[in-house]
Amino acid sequence: MKIALLGGTGNLGKGLAMRLALVGHEIIVGSRREEKAISKAEEYRREVGGLDISGMVNEDAAKKCEIAFLTIPWEHAVETARMLRYALRGKIVVSPLVPLKKSGDLFVYASDTSAAEMVAAILENSTVISALHTIPARRFADLNEKFDWDVPVCGDDENAKKLVMNLISQIDGLRALDAGPLSNSRLVESVTPLIMNVIHKNRLPEAGIKFL
Ligand SMILES: NC(=O)c1ccc[n+]([C@@H]2O[C@H](COP(=O)([O-])OP(=O)(O)OC[C@H]3O[C@@H](n4cnc5c(N)ncnc54)[C@H](OP(=O)(O)O)[C@@H]3O)[C@@H](O)[C@H]2O)c1
Repeated sequence: MKIALLGGTGNLGKGLAMRLALVGHEIIVGSRREEKAISKAEEYRREVGGLDISGMVNEDAAKKCEIAFLTIPWEHAVETARMLRYALRGKIVVSPLVPLKKSGDLFVYASDTSAAEMVAAILENSTVISALHTIPARRFADLNEKFDWDVPVCGDDENAKKLVMNLISQIDGLRALDAGPLSNSRLVESVTPLIMNVIHKNRLPEAGIKFL
């Protein structure tokens, strides 16, 4: 599939670009700046040995893709979705967005509405699926890392949800699990601050989640 990683120049974008390219997909790294997109795409391509990864501005990436991942900090992703709503018309858009902030030394969930539902309200003509919130991006972007993590996936369109679950499960070490409708996204998004608090307080290494 032709997959755009909007803001794919950052932490989560890197792992997704490389790992989805490794299972045969055509990857477009999006950025606000074309030079940055091209240079990051080159860097990722080098790491995976020359697979199909290109770079372009977010709007062109959104137009060219079949499915887009919004790999942008949530407070900016909502505005980016607004700017790209025509380019993303008819596409599946995956939201890994976690509304997260620090309150003292605690990580807290920072929104009344889930980020995925906020994005879905803007992208009326796209199909928004929520996934990947609990993947620790730095470990994920290190191709030497081995892991075994589950990925809860939420969405209202069953076919689009299945397609995204299938895509995620193609990545070695990830198992996508159906977590219900998009209205459940708030539950899944808020697992991330919980994990971060536990990791931080107990000095554990970064980890994802696993259902037995
Ligand atoms: N980091 C994690 O471990 C992790 C895990 C699961 C889910 N997530 C979620 O995934 C998303 C991306 O996280 P991340 O850590 O990859 O983010 P990040 O590295 O901090 O940023 C990703 C990209 O967002 C773009 N960006 C920054 N400010 C922007 C703005 N004002 N407008 C538009 N684009 C902007 C930048 O791309 P350009 O400068 O190239 O445009 C940047 O490279 C977040 O919503 C996060 O909640 C993160």
